[in-house]
Amino acid sequence: MKLAEWINSSGVSARELASRVETTEATISRLRNGRAQPSMELAQRIAHATGGAVTPNDFLDSAPESTGAGSSGTLEAARVLLVISGGIAAYKSLDLIRRLRERGAAVRVVLTRAGAQFVTPLSVGALAGQAPHTDLFDAKSEFDVGHIRLARECDLVVVAPATADIMAKMAHGQADDLATAVLLATDAPLLLAPAMNPHMWASKATQRNVVQLTSDGAALVGPNRGEMAESGEAGIGRMAEVAEIVDAAERLLGGPGGKPLSGMRAVVTSGPTHEPIDPVRYIANRSSGKQGHAIAAALAKAGVDVTLVSGPVRIPDPQGVTAVHVESAREMLEAVEKALPADIGVFAAAVADWRSAAPADQKMKKETGVDTMALDLVQNPDILKLVSRGHKRPKLVIGFAAETQNVVENAMAKRKAKGADWIVANDVGHARGVMGGDVNAIHLVSQNGVEDWPEMDKDEVADRLVRAIAEHVTGKVSV
Ligand code: C5P
Repeated sequence: MKLAEWINSSGVSARELASRVETTEATISRLRNGRAQPSMELAQRIAHATGGAVTPNDFLDSAPESTGAGSSGTLEAARVLLVISGGIAAYKSLDLIRRLRERGAAVRVVLTRAGAQFVTPLSVGALAGQAPHTDLFDAKSEFDVGHIRLARECDLVVVAPATADIMAKMAHGQADDLATAVLLATDAPLLLAPAMNPHMWASKATQRNVVQLTSDGAALVGPNRGEMAESGEAGIGRMAEVAEIVDAAERLLGGPGGKPLSGMRAVVTSGPTHEPIDPVRYIANRSSGKQGHAIAAALAKAGVDVTLVSGPVRIPDPQGVTAVHVESAREMLEAVEKALPADIGVFAAAVADWRSAAPADQKMKKETGVDTMALDLVQNPDILKLVSRGHKRPKLVIGFAAETQNVVENAMAKRKAKGADWIVANDVGHARGVMGGDVNAIHLVSQNGVEDWPEMDKDEVADRLVRAIAEHVTGKVSV
């Protein structure tokens, strides 16, 4: 039975199934609509969780969309260098070798000493069709291939799993073994699939290294939220599924549908704004910037030249975008105007509607005997409205509507009032935890009506929105 059929008939939600098979809901949603193929191991867990109703064979003839990792031959003739470092997720890398080769890639493997504690050179060699490279000072292999040739003779380097340790070394340019020497010497695009304990992932040091690596040009896939194999702990740190890694590899190599929006320009706003009251206080809101940043990243992956105008957030700038950091609504407007003209405008920022009419120069003091105080507020410029109605209006203007009630009705009214083409509406009622959270359930309101999207993580909302943009702009289903 197909997975979609089983979910519809069993009464088990995609979310529940995701937790039973220890994957993300986004992965289940991709598998369900044929956009990805599971690894053999995930297929077996699904077979088990569905009591044998959905077997691994049931995924074989599901029709993937063009960038889906199930399509064959999409990495034809690509030379992939896979670095397997030492984490429990290394067992998935065996399947990754198979899937990359199935799509036509030639795979060379560098296995670190720690990686070899988790998978054997023999199994890696059998799957790759050639022995893995392991030692920087192995005279024979240095003579045959050598670390410089390994670094040069490839179109893409994938590090999966990328442990906290190898990422730290890479961020600092260390080269004390074959893997790190190759990583330092290569100028091929670099894809990292981090896998580590959630605390290690969240640590300041790892996050610093991630910022460094992405600003050096590395792309990341995952890590996903889920249970950790070794500890029974849950959180963000699970390596991305094999299908997701292959998908990302295809995109980096500009596979079919990889860059459907090349040559276009976009401006994206993201995050909250901070409106000063005095030198130490400001008016703000709970926006994390995750959704806007994810959209900027997805547009960049689709080939768009993106200017991201971001209010104060705690997340790193996405790779491949020009980021402009601002604080207040007025600064945001100025930066947006500078970034125009553009073909696409996405206004995801939670701009403060009001600002203090006269921010104080000095910290405002309490006065004895005065129990109340009034703050005079004036309205901020409405960036979306001004751009929609301005003479440099992008061809496609997308606004957001964060609502706590009558979500769709309000969004429809907002689309008209603001002159946007589309409104992405979401329910930010407190119980739903959208603001600051990782998932989002949205309604896409356009001239053609309303599309209700199932709950997805914010990266998936971004990917799907960019697919919709590409369809709209190019007139064809391409991403
Ligand atoms: O009016 P409301 O704040 O609900 O509208 C939300 C949409 O308008 C979002 O797309 C937001 O980025 C944009 N907006 C803006 N400038 C403002 C207020 C909202 O661009 N001052």
